[in-house]
Amino acid sequence: MISEKDFITSNYTLSVDNGDFIWSAPSNIALVKYWGKKDKQIPANPSISFTLNNCKTITKMAFAKKENDRDFSFDLLFEGKPKEDFKPKIQKFLERIFEYCPYLKDFHFTIDTENTFPHSSGIASSASGMAALAMNIMSLEKKLCPEMTDDFFFQKASLLARLGSGSACRSVKGEVVVWGNHAEIKDSSDLFGVEFPSAVHANFKNYQDTILLVDKGEKQVSSTVGHDLMHDHPFAERRFTQAHENLSKIKAVLENGNVEEFIKIVESEALTLHAMMMTSMPYFILMKPNTLEIINAIWKFRNETGIPVCFTLDAGANVHVLYPEYTKEKVLEFIKSKLVGYCQNGQYICDEIGHGAMSI
Ligand code: PMV
Repeated sequence: MISEKDFITSNYTLSVDNGDFIWSAPSNIALVKYWGKKDKQIPANPSISFTLNNCKTITKMAFAKKENDRDFSFDLLFEGKPKEDFKPKIQKFLERIFEYCPYLKDFHFTIDTENTFPHSSGIASSASGMAALAMNIMSLEKKLCPEMTDDFFFQKASLLARLGSGSACRSVKGEVVVWGNHAEIKDSSDLFGVEFPSAVHANFKNYQDTILLVDKGEKQVSSTVGHDLMHDHPFAERRFTQAHENLSKIKAVLENGNVEEFIKIVESEALTLHAMMMTSMPYFILMKPNTLEIINAIWKFRNETGIPVCFTLDAGANVHVLYPEYTKEKVLEFIKSKLVGYCQNGQYICDEIGHGAMSI
């Protein structure tokens, strides 16, 4: 079995002096949620997600060989302008991945990053951002180790992204990604995300995700603190077992196309994630009144029309509305007429399943 040691690159030649790369990486939305982790961002349970298409981070990384290789050296730009407050996060990321990428101190980096979604929309850019940066670093590593296989390139990119932000490891590939050991998913690993190994049923092709921006405020609780609260959580063990069970169930559903069953698993997972937050110590509620208004409106619409639309939630108040492509027109009409009023400044983002990181 592949282990962390296999990703430590020690044989490389400093054969390039300078250059640059540009990668885009998308956000992803979990269907079975990751909540709770061990040391080094090892997940307490396996998770599965749809990779998104439109919510992306685009990162350009220029590198230049330097003499003094004692410390990391980088400039960080956001939309072309220096952004000092992002630097500590990147510094920490470089420190964490250094044991796998010892060449990082041999170069000065200029990292220029931008998001396709509105700034401070409440959409976390950590998954797409860390994935885009990890891809650039692997492009550099490929220059230093040209014999590298594609499999290694993508696995290590996912592993590095994981060390930046756990769920980021699911943003490297598409369309459906599993992260965390699971008995029924071949080659699944706690170290990196893998593409869902079976063919996904046509019912889920181009599945739509409209993100309703309910609250754009700063997160009350960081995801690091949230994950930590699963350590002494009274329901943790049962929850981790349930995630394994739900992954088995959703695996069958993605293969057989049973959208009714998909809805049950996905909505239950979203509410379970929030139930874990509400039952930790300290406890907290990240949903807002409008989150509940939207959930109730979706249930009413589904009951009245039979259209298989459902919701999921991240660690925040925003609602992801998931629906098959063939229902798009009717669901968008419903969103515009009934749900937009619950969004902050009427804002929402139309997205759909995508294919993972891309070199530009
Ligand atoms: O990647 P993190 O550490 O920010 O954790 C995110 C966890 C959830 O978004 C709440 C669930 C998930 O699986 O993406």
